[in-house]
Amino acid sequence: MATILWHFVLVIVIATLFTPNSTCAKKSKIIGMKMNMIDQCWRWNRQWRSQRAQLANCSIGYAGKMINNIANNNLIYYQVTDPTDDPINPKLGTLRYGASMIQQKVWITFKTDMQITLSKPLLISSFTTIDGRGSNVHIAHNACFMIFKPTNVIIHNIRIHHCKSQGPGMVVGPNGKVISLGQVDGDAIRLVTASKIWIDHNTLHDCEDGLLDVTRGSTDVTISNNWFRNQDKVMLLGHDDGYIRDQNMKVTVVYNHFGPNCNQSMPRIRHGYAHVANNLYQGWMQYAIGGSKEPSLKSQSNLFIAPKSGNKEVTWRESSNEENGDRWEFHSVGDVFENEACFTATKGGRVPKPNYSEEQRFNVLDAKSVRFLTKSSGVPRCKRAIC
Ligand SMILES: *[C@@H]1O[C@H](CO)[C@@H](O)[C@H](O)[C@H]1NC(C)=O
Ligand SMILES: *[C@@H]1O[C@H](CO)[C@@H](O)[C@H](O)[C@H]1NC(C)=O
Ligand SMILES: *[C@@H]1O[C@H](CO)[C@@H](O)[C@H](O)[C@H]1NC(C)=O
Repeated sequence: MATILWHFVLVIVIATLFTPNSTCAKKSKIIGMKMNMIDQCWRWNRQWRSQRAQLANCSIGYAGKMINNIANNNLIYYQVTDPTDDPINPKLGTLRYGASMIQQKVWITFKTDMQITLSKPLLISSFTTIDGRGSNVHIAHNACFMIFKPTNVIIHNIRIHHCKSQGPGMVVGPNGKVISLGQVDGDAIRLVTASKIWIDHNTLHDCEDGLLDVTRGSTDVTISNNWFRNQDKVMLLGHDDGYIRDQNMKVTVVYNHFGPNCNQSMPRIRHGYAHVANNLYQGWMQYAIGGSKEPSLKSQSNLFIAPKSGNKEVTWRESSNEENGDRWEFHSVGDVFENEACFTATKGGRVPKPNYSEEQRFNVLDAKSVRFLTKSSGVPRCKRAIC
């Protein structure tokens, strides 16, 4: 089936290439409608299995290109063969050994389909890539991922769900040494003082606390192509109202699918800046995007589909003392609203530009193409040459 589909796509491309009056614009439109800018970069490559590291060149937005993860030829490829977990003495072959013990650049893959039930949060080291392509990998039913102080981390193609809060205890830290870790909430992925992080093509749902928290001065983060569903609080950007360092936080949220059954926080922003572009919002209960403490938002060319009944308002702003002059900059540019969805933007002010560098920049497409752009969000099925 997959092979037939591939041939079909090839035929379309070839037909387009050889149609005499076809223009470049038309060609890129066909490809663009099938795949977004990140996916176009690697999913056409039938050799993706033997050229996995190419993925590092495909990121966009504030994370920039992830080529630090692969540069200088000292990259170790590590395969997870053992789904068990020991938080203090991880065995060679387990995910924890690869993610916490190996202090070099490491690209982690999985030998087979597996479910890993972590007995403590997994503390991921700098320059680590966790690449689930080709295997069906679930991190589920207990502790989940924590990106605690590192830089240059990629999480790709992993299903993370039913994450539970954890009491204090000993665990191997991201430096390979056992540390004492306090109480941890039940989030699928939690970033703590982390930077240059790319979270792409994961499926996250049904966790005790939230699905993705970016906290305590974390910045330069791209959250792309993920599928978030069945969750009350989906995505938190900014630690708490008192954590001023998050004023420097910059996050790109692009090509994600939110819903069904999400209540709020897609994302909830404190202090910092979020560029939220080309995402699909399949309903919400409380609100979709909100915040407190003067956050800045550029909501650009998203598709907001309001629930059939209930709250049609996309935004929410924590009630604050107006006398204190709580300025917020929430701006909507090119968004499309279905089922009477509405967006309360800041009146006046200036739309905050993301100010991307050359390697971070990407073209935001018309919101009408969001359904195509997000069609394969979450974990795609990878079979042989097709991913
Ligand atoms: C990543 O892109 C750079 C610049 O375009 C190129 O030199 C390099 O070979 C690419 N690396 C991979 C692994 O594709
Ligand atoms: C949605 O959020 C509101 C406000 O926080 C809360 O009262 C309500 O219980 C939540 N609903 C669900 C289904 O989580
Ligand atoms: C982008 O640059 C302008 C001008 O320097 C600045 O006012 C604005 O705050 C910057 N935006 C962000 C998100 O940093």
